[in-house]
Amino acid sequence: MAGYLDGKVVAVTGGGGGIGRAVALAAAAEGAKVIVADIGVDMAGGDPKSEVAEAVVTEIAAAGGEAVSVADDVSTMAGGEHIIATAVEKWGRIDGVVAVAGILRERMLFNMSEDEWDPVIATHLKGHFTVFRAAAAVMRKQEGGGALIGFTSGAFSGSVAQANYASAKGGIVSLVRSAAAGLYRYGVTANAIAPVARTRMSENVPMELAEMGDPEDIAPMVVYLLSDKARHITGQIYTVVGKKIAVWNQPREVRAMYAADRWTPEEIEARLDSTVGVERMDLIDKLEEYRQAAAAKEQGQSS
Ligand SMILES: NC(=O)c1ccc[n+]([C@@H]2O[C@H](COP(=O)([O-])OP(=O)(O)OC[C@H]3O[C@@H](n4cnc5c(N)ncnc54)[C@H](O)[C@@H]3O)[C@@H](O)[C@H]2O)c1
Repeated sequence: MAGYLDGKVVAVTGGGGGIGRAVALAAAAEGAKVIVADIGVDMAGGDPKSEVAEAVVTEIAAAGGEAVSVADDVSTMAGGEHIIATAVEKWGRIDGVVAVAGILRERMLFNMSEDEWDPVIATHLKGHFTVFRAAAAVMRKQEGGGALIGFTSGAFSGSVAQANYASAKGGIVSLVRSAAAGLYRYGVTANAIAPVARTRMSENVPMELAEMGDPEDIAPMVVYLLSDKARHITGQIYTVVGKKIAVWNQPREVRAMYAADRWTPEEIEARLDSTVGVERMDLIDKLEEYRQAAAAKEQGQSS
């Protein structure tokens, strides 16, 4: 039976666990040769175990697929380059990169340390750059281009106790959009998934989420975006959760006002509220609802 990704070579970072594992298994089941890239760390990024990636390669082989493991740290240039070089050395090309690797170090902004900020930005944002950069250099020269898929989060639009994570996820959106624009002429697409799925990471959320699903619910959309059927789709952000797929809007200016000469603070004060105004921040409107939901979850756990 022909697979959706027959003949494609796809690297999945964070492919050893959670959503990445489901993506790696689904891509292999659809005929892709898969590089499972994972250093097998705990959720905060410590205690690496290379067996995590190897275990997924074994699962893929048992199901009749082809895969190879790379236990490199995606937050290093050498790690990103090695992941892509492994694909090229073994199979001669790289058609898709799915950047799923991630960690969490949650803290309120006023208490967050450098050691909580830097590794989260490095794993998520730089961890996308290292593999996208190495893959783009190959994809722009090969026939058929390629597909880059980033993993952001709804948290890119703001998050209460995750300034590090939210900033990294916002950076990933900008990186994906820049890749989409910069690589358009080379036939390389770039899109982002904002997933929600039951994994060790989502268990960490302080309240029950209204929408929830499994890692296997995310994988089909990733497979589709990696395929030749989705070559017309680039620069998009898709929420994927359970049975739902939703597209995010493109950021753009919505209202403007102009000064006769240079603005003064007094003139701005006189006109801003009644003309340009503000756009409501949904998250601020929902803070009280979230606080109550977190309290209810905590109470449920302690009773
Ligand atoms: N689960 C959710 O509901 C949810 C929601 C929003 C966004 N996300 C995003 O989806 C992605 C996957 O999340 P998940 O829930 O499957 O997490 P997970 O913790 O289950 O899996 C993450 C994987 O990344 C690997 N990893 C971490 N740092 C690495 C590094 N430096 N190099 C190589 N591998 C590394 C880990 O070993 C692990 O296998 C993450 O980017 C996460 O931020 C998840």
